[in-house]
Amino acid sequence: MEKKASAEKAIREIRRKTRRRFSAEEKIRIVIEGLRGEESIASLCRREGIAANLYYRWSKENPVDKTAETNHPIHSLLVERWSPYAFADRDVSDEDLRSLFEAARWAPSSYNEQPWSYVVATRQQKEEFERLLSCLVEANKTWARHVPVLALGITRHAFTRNGKPNAAAEHDLGLAAGNLLVEASARALFVHQMIGILPDRAREIYAIPEHSHALTGLAIGYQGDSESLPEGLRERDLAQRTRKPLSEFVFGGRYGESSTIAKV
Ligand SMILES: Cc1cc2nc3c(=O)[nH]c(=O)nc-3n(C[C@H](O)[C@H](O)[C@H](O)COP(=O)(O)O)c2cc1C
Repeated sequence: MEKKASAEKAIREIRRKTRRRFSAEEKIRIVIEGLRGEESIASLCRREGIAANLYYRWSKENPVDKTAETNHPIHSLLVERWSPYAFADRDVSDEDLRSLFEAARWAPSSYNEQPWSYVVATRQQKEEFERLLSCLVEANKTWARHVPVLALGITRHAFTRNGKPNAAAEHDLGLAAGNLLVEASARALFVHQMIGILPDRAREIYAIPEHSHALTGLAIGYQGDSESLPEGLRERDLAQRTRKPLSEFVFGGRYGESSTIAKV
């Protein structure tokens, strides 16, 4: 009996000593995968080699619950998407990046013009990354310098076939971004878009042609630890997400009057 107890104690001790240590980013990733609900917590824990009670402890520890509190049900990929400032120190594979831009590729657009284009740089391409970073305003540079992938969203304001103005150019770049964001969400990736860029600098350094215009920056990566951020940004990363209710933007009869659909 005593022998058995001491053997069990020895096993526990070996387990404790050989237990894999998980970084804050890994914990967040695992908790997010659990929240996604695509597999049972038991199978997720088996796959990650952790006990279920450890998972539940992490899920309570993690103060960043940025999932949307929706008034009506929407797809979990949309519920889980948000724009972090803290990104994990983890590269994004070229394969994932290709799928993100493939998703953008399949966005609808006015006259199927597909007015969007992107310049992209990963942090492995040090010089390219610095060039792209230099196209952001200072406030965005402070946090975006730590992301694994940066991109610029560019749109063309004139139709290719007749040179006439494309009134939907910015709208359609936005649609492409929407597709890209959903694909990112499906891959546990996060995107933080930026209007705070320097379009003239982007035009100069990337030789962006006439009729095209850099509109947005995109920071792409895995969610990081908000605690690593300077004050101010940390608060923003931890802040609750809010939205207007449907009644404030779904109208019926006349502009400004809530639709009956939205009054529920
Ligand atoms: C087109 C666009 C431009 C944005 N520009 C900036 C920016 O320059 N800097 C920044 O910190 N956040 C920027 N954001 C992020 C928004 O502030 C953020 O999406 C918004 O507060 C809603 O938060 P959520 O994305 O977490 O739901 C931008 C978002 C979009 C869609």
